[in-house]
Formats: sequence, structure tokens, C-alpha cells
Amino acid sequence: MGLTFRKLHPSFVAEASRVDLRDVQDDAELEAIRQAMDRYAILVFRGQQFSSDEQLTFATRFDGTLHRNTGISVLQPSRFGDEALTDVSNVGADGEVLGVDARQRSYVLANRLWHTDASFQDPRGRYSMLAALVVPPVAADTEFADMRTAYDTLPETRRADLEGLRVHHSIAYSRQTLGFEFSAEEGDRLKGATHPLLLVNPRNGRHSLYLASHASRIVDRPVADGRLLLRDLMEHATRPEFVYRHSWREGDFVIWDNRATMHRACPFEDTVHRREMRRVTTLDVGDPSRVAQPA
Ligand code: OGA
Ligand code: MN
Repeated sequence: MGLTFRKLHPSFVAEASRVDLRDVQDDAELEAIRQAMDRYAILVFRGQQFSSDEQLTFATRFDGTLHRNTGISVLQPSRFGDEALTDVSNVGADGEVLGVDARQRSYVLANRLWHTDASFQDPRGRYSMLAALVVPPVAADTEFADMRTAYDTLPETRRADLEGLRVHHSIAYSRQTLGFEFSAEEGDRLKGATHPLLLVNPRNGRHSLYLASHASRIVDRPVADGRLLLRDLMEHATRPEFVYRHSWREGDFVIWDNRATMHRACPFEDTVHRREMRRVTTLDVGDPSRVAQPA
């Protein structure tokens, strides 16, 4: 296949050469993409034409186990008919652009907080794969932060202090900071999860800070100390030089490693312009090359 990758940022993110991912079924080709993920943490593929089913099939082939217990699935069934297909659009079940007061809108709006997908679950999210189906005529970008460089640039003594710390992640916590409330029933389905503050990619040994706006406290520290530390780390990790901003084109398909990056949606006139995006996220279980299903 001879896929090549062109860097889009000094420390992470690459654009792949032209390929139709629906045709990538060979183990060696899939492994080449996984290796590129280990290296760049984010890959941009242009001109993809996935149907919902094809997107699910590719995600399963690429990384095995799909994340279905999504935050939005507790609010309403997926418009795409499978909870593994997360609707990140500003469009309601009736196909219309969401109004300013729509509950689904305020839920999706919280994607503007820096986060990683499914950190509030155990197992947590590994790769997210977002397909841009309809892109508005105005900029409606997504920013990504490089959490490996964020780790690498901390002073050594600071890194040692963070070793062994555990963080509780809760989507109810991050949503609540924007005034979004889950009902008691919804909350019962979203209890949150605890993960290490430092993650290591077992395939290449690279460390990253594992942060998100879902991070509600450091289990091993008094609440205020933990929250202040999380704030400081968040500020460090999202310095402009660690951030790549993606301007979407229709047909873009971006894969990111949730263990090694954070992301956030950028503001645009979302009650005016239609933006349709469909995401599949896999779970961080096993080694990708072994858990993935044969084509
Ligand atoms: C996501 C997400 C941001 C965006 O799909 O997980 O956070 O810009 N998207 O839509
Ligand atoms: Mn997200």
C-alpha cells in the first residue's frame, strides 16, 4: 500500500497519503497505521466515504472493542441506530439544527472543554475516530493537545511527584461545571472511573499526562490540593505550542489516541450552521494488533 505520513505539527499529528480506509483489510497495513498512531498520536485521513456500518467495521478491524456505554446514550438513543456511533452533530432526531435551548445542544456544547473521550469509563477509551460528514461554511475547528510532550517537558522532580497518583473522572462533574444536570437515573448509569494520572503506551514506552475536564479529583490528595494540581497541569498541557488546530473538510477522518492527547471543539455559530460529525471510540483493552478482529 505504501502509506506515507506528513507531519502537521512539530511534536505530533500527521496527515496520511491518499487511501480508502474501507479497503484497508490487510494485517500489515492495519499495523502500519497503528505504528503511525504510536508515533504521531493523531492521524488525519482525507476524502473518506464511510457509511455508518463501514465506520463500525473499520473501527472493529482496527482496534477490536467498541465503546458503547457513551455519555450521550444515557440521554437518548443514537440517531445512527447503534450506541457505538456517537452523534457529535448539532442536529436533533428530526434532522434539524438544534435550537439554543435544546438539552442535547448543551450536552454537545461541553465538548468545548478540554477532554479525552471515555475517561469516565473503565476500561477507558483508546482510539477515537471522527468522521466529518457535513462541515459548515464557517470555521468550526477542533483543537488537540499533545499530552506526551506535556509530560516530557515537566521538570524531572515534578514528574516523580506525579508517579502513582490516581484520578477520578466523571462526566457528571465536567457537565455540571457548565450547568448541565443529569437526572438521578441518568447519573446512576454514569458513575465515573479512576485511572492513573500518568499513562504509558506499552507499545513504545512513551509517557503521557492523562487529564480531562472530567478529572474531578486526585484520589490520593485532599480535594482542594488535587484540584489545584489538576488545574496547573491542565494549564501546562494546553500551552499554545502543544496544540494543533484542525480545520475540517468534508470527508476528513481523524483518529486520535485518547491516552496521549486531549481535544476540544472550538466555538462557532452552532444554532445557524449545520455540522454533522460521527464518532466511534474503542476501549483500551489488550494490544491493538492482537485484539483487532480479522477482516
Ligand atoms: C468528539 C469531540 C469535538 C468537535 O467527537 O469526541 O469532542 O469539535 N469533538 O466536534
Ligand atoms: Mn470528545
